[in-house]
Amino acid sequence: MDIQVIQGNIIESRADTLVCALFEGEPALSSATWAVDAAMSGAIRDLLTLGDMTGKTGQVAVVYPRGAMPASRVVLIGLGKRDELTAELIRKAFAAGMKKARKLKASQVATVVYGTGTAGVSVSEAAQALVEGAMLGLYRFSAPKQNLADSQTDIQAIKILELDGQKIEAIQAGLNIARAAVAGTILARDLINWPANFTTPTRMAEVAQEIAEKFGLSITVGDREWAAKRGMGAFLAVAKGAGEPPKFIVLEHNGERKDLDTVVLVGKGITFDTGGISIKPAERMEDMKSDMSGAAAVLGAMRAIAELKLPLRVIGITPCTENMPDANAYRPADIITASNGKTIEIISTDAEGRMVLADALVYASQYQPKAVIDLATLTGACVIALGQGIAAGVFCNDEQLQNKLVAAGKASQERLWPMPLWDDYKQSIKSTVADMKNSGGRFGGVGTSAIFLKEFTNYPWAHIDMAGMALQAKENGYVPEGGAGFGVRLLVELLRNW
Ligand code: BES
Ligand code: MN
Ligand code: ZN
Repeated sequence: MDIQVIQGNIIESRADTLVCALFEGEPALSSATWAVDAAMSGAIRDLLTLGDMTGKTGQVAVVYPRGAMPASRVVLIGLGKRDELTAELIRKAFAAGMKKARKLKASQVATVVYGTGTAGVSVSEAAQALVEGAMLGLYRFSAPKQNLADSQTDIQAIKILELDGQKIEAIQAGLNIARAAVAGTILARDLINWPANFTTPTRMAEVAQEIAEKFGLSITVGDREWAAKRGMGAFLAVAKGAGEPPKFIVLEHNGERKDLDTVVLVGKGITFDTGGISIKPAERMEDMKSDMSGAAAVLGAMRAIAELKLPLRVIGITPCTENMPDANAYRPADIITASNGKTIEIISTDAEGRMVLADALVYASQYQPKAVIDLATLTGACVIALGQGIAAGVFCNDEQLQNKLVAAGKASQERLWPMPLWDDYKQSIKSTVADMKNSGGRFGGVGTSAIFLKEFTNYPWAHIDMAGMALQAKENGYVPEGGAGFGVRLLVELLRNW
């Protein structure tokens, strides 16, 4: 889709559809909406006087100018109270407005940036939120279904009009950030939504390769042999039963620039988690196509970071494999040696995420990072603790890093909730035959998984358990049903403000 910022008056726009916003409890319309209302001799004000629309967030109404302007329809959206406006409310309102416009088969949409006069949101933030809400809200997974293409129409272009030439630059800046973050999020959503017979480790590597070529990143794709040479016994144990070849993918942005701060992003890339020999129940096992969502977030974030040319050295590591039961599969009671020499007694082959992450976290150490952040759909226990679609849990050994992450979570609405990294959890993973067990049992399952990972870190580190955030059960605002693409906007927000 084409999005442009244009200096001009919205009422003169040749777009077929205008999207205009109303604030709740404000009879005096804001400038652009006022102009549109005046051109239609008070049609918008009628809505307010009749009480058909009050400007509450989420409200949508349509009015028809009937020749009073070049546009053939005006979609009105509610933004809530002006002094309570946030970027999140802008995203939600524009997602609702754009979805309505698409339903009406709009082709060209014109709008303006709202909320620039409010205390809470800057011009650039408001523009970014508008574009994120619009584009993420319009996302659809192009499912391989017959006749799908014929029945779907899409908005071709969005024009953001601004009268004040001095604001254009800030709007353009917000648009550029949003474009990159949205493209990364959509990439992640697609990878998650395509099931495991499409999104294989090999496909993940192809996508990483495409990103590397397009944005000039360096890339390493390690196969079984490559991983064996590096002693990655934990990663390879999970891959032992896999029919699809495993891929250990490393992307480097500004890889040579050792003068810059280094941040390493690690994403769990289990393209399908059957549980392995400790096989999962059949019910909702299909959801485990999303067990590579951490890796998808890292690939999406790397794409965005590279497109925005962020002045940091950022390394993205995604250990990718399926977790399958097989004659060659690793088994409970097996003793595995990870690449840092630590031994692991396998209690459950379904605790595979921490295994692949272990070798990735050890690999991260060579970059002498200022921070390592891993994202993983790691435990059902985290979903029990925080809920589905509410927040991801964050475990962190560095207060400053944690504060930065929580702030980025707030701004992006990809929320993080701090969880404790207490050493007491270590008790549960004590083994008599190895340095640790890979599962601590039922109680405190989210804490014991984090304390397991800690054994493989020696730098400022944050672990994000996003098990409850990978799949969206029901469409909600700008998050569609299915792959949410969680984590990309969070990481972009964090690293932009690093
Ligand atoms: N991928 C799952 C965790 C998961 C569960 C993600 C539900 C999303 C939704 C992970 O590999 C897993 O199986 N974890 C086990 C760990 C246990 C065996 C220690 C779990 O949570 O039950
Ligand atoms: Mn598992
Ligand atoms: Zn898993």
